[in-house]
Amino acid sequence: MHRAAPVSLWQYGVIMRRIAVVPGSFDPVTLGHLDVIDRAAGLFDELHVLVVHNPDKSALLPISKRVSLLEQAIKEAGLPTNIVVASWSMGLLVDYCMDVGASVLVKGIRSQVDVAYETPMAIVNRNLAAVETVFLLPDPANAHVSSSLVRQVASLGGDVSPYVPRAVAQYLERSRV
Ligand code: PNS
Repeated sequence: MHRAAPVSLWQYGVIMRRIAVVPGSFDPVTLGHLDVIDRAAGLFDELHVLVVHNPDKSALLPISKRVSLLEQAIKEAGLPTNIVVASWSMGLLVDYCMDVGASVLVKGIRSQVDVAYETPMAIVNRNLAAVETVFLLPDPANAHVSSSLVRQVASLGGDVSPYVPRAVAQYLERSRV
């Protein structure tokens, strides 16, 4: 009996790929970020980790270095292969989402301070382009870890290795003056 070759729903365009973006300064990427990225990658078909310049923060690392450290950290930690690392400086975050077909932003929320900071941005991004924001809670082991804490400890000569991926700790150690 002749059987037709199986045709997947993908080929009919019935199933949409679920694409999400994890935006942030990642200056530098921490173990807290990596945990959120790992868990978010399991929730979506494609996850874009997007390095964005935040004019409200004074930067430690150039954007290109943040991207390469993220790529190294993701590879070394054996995170899923559906993760793309990119940077964006051409306009609104939701413009990037439209460009890549993403309808969801993912943010890590450590405390009420983060809720207060993220809530207006989530509402504005939904108003601008119907992009929803999903908040993930951190692993409690990382709930106190932030890039600003890492920058401060590193700038004063302290050991940041408990808070950042190995590639970041090595880079900060090497670039210490
Ligand atoms: O890691 P950060 O510094 O908290 O990340 C903040 C970031 C980069 C996600 C935020 O500043 C941002 O979304 N910038 C993009 C500019 C934009 O689209 N603004 C309007 C909507 S909030």
